[in-house]
Amino acid sequence: MKIAFIGHGNVGAPLADHLQRLGHSVTLAARDPAADSVRQLLARNPALQAAPLEAAVREAELVFLATPYAANASVIPPLAQALTGKVLVDCTNPVGPGLSHGLGSQQSGAQALQQLAPQARVVKAFSIYGFENFEDNRFPAANVRPAMFFCGDDAAAMRQVGTLIDQLGWQPLNVGGLEQALHLEHMTLLWIRLVRVHGHPPHLAWAALPR
Ligand SMILES: NC(=O)c1ccc[n+]([C@@H]2O[C@H](COP(=O)([O-])OP(=O)(O)OC[C@H]3O[C@@H](n4cnc5c(N)ncnc54)[C@H](OP(=O)(O)O)[C@@H]3O)[C@@H](O)[C@H]2O)c1
Repeated sequence: MKIAFIGHGNVGAPLADHLQRLGHSVTLAARDPAADSVRQLLARNPALQAAPLEAAVREAELVFLATPYAANASVIPPLAQALTGKVLVDCTNPVGPGLSHGLGSQQSGAQALQQLAPQARVVKAFSIYGFENFEDNRFPAANVRPAMFFCGDDAAAMRQVGTLIDQLGWQPLNVGGLEQALHLEHMTLLWIRLVRVHGHPPHLAWAALPR
């Protein structure tokens, strides 16, 4: 699959790297394709490609968004047309003061994103854990895979993202439509509090136990 990454920092970099190694064609959609951060990632994996934002998005079938949440309002509108019909995977989290929900729990960041790119098919995924789990999600002592909760309104987009989640070693857990994103964003805040404030190890992950 042709995949573009807007944002290739803590979250975007490991996901881009792993997806390329799984055989996908992955392009970093970069503000500056010659930037140091891009060169460092290409040194880690020379099979990645880099291109200017809009060109990369136009070429892609599926686009990951892994920018700081505050950047969405300026990054996405100029790309809205190029995103028409594309799957847009929202990894971003609106975080407010004191680890509160950044939109006052009135609306999810994913729904706000959908408003910025009305013709994109937004799926919220790869958002509920810290980046350490995106670098390495193996749990050798467990006999279940860690779960990746994800949601979105477009069934075909959900299937595509579910396949990527599965390929990356997670158990895909479809939790419903985009209205569920607010709950996922609260799960993220819970994870951040547990790990970053209360000192749980960063490889803390949720699992769905079959019976
Ligand atoms: N960190 C985590 O553990 C974690 C886990 C789950 C979800 N998230 C969410 O994922 C998102 C990214 O977090 P992160 O920790 O990966 O951030 P990060 O390491 O700071 O990386 C941010 C990336 O976004 C790019 N970027 C920033 N502003 C941009 C703009 N205006 N236009 C285009 N690209 C821009 C940066 O590119 P440059 O190199 O050009 O600056 C960089 O590649 C956030 O919304 C965060 O809430 C984070």
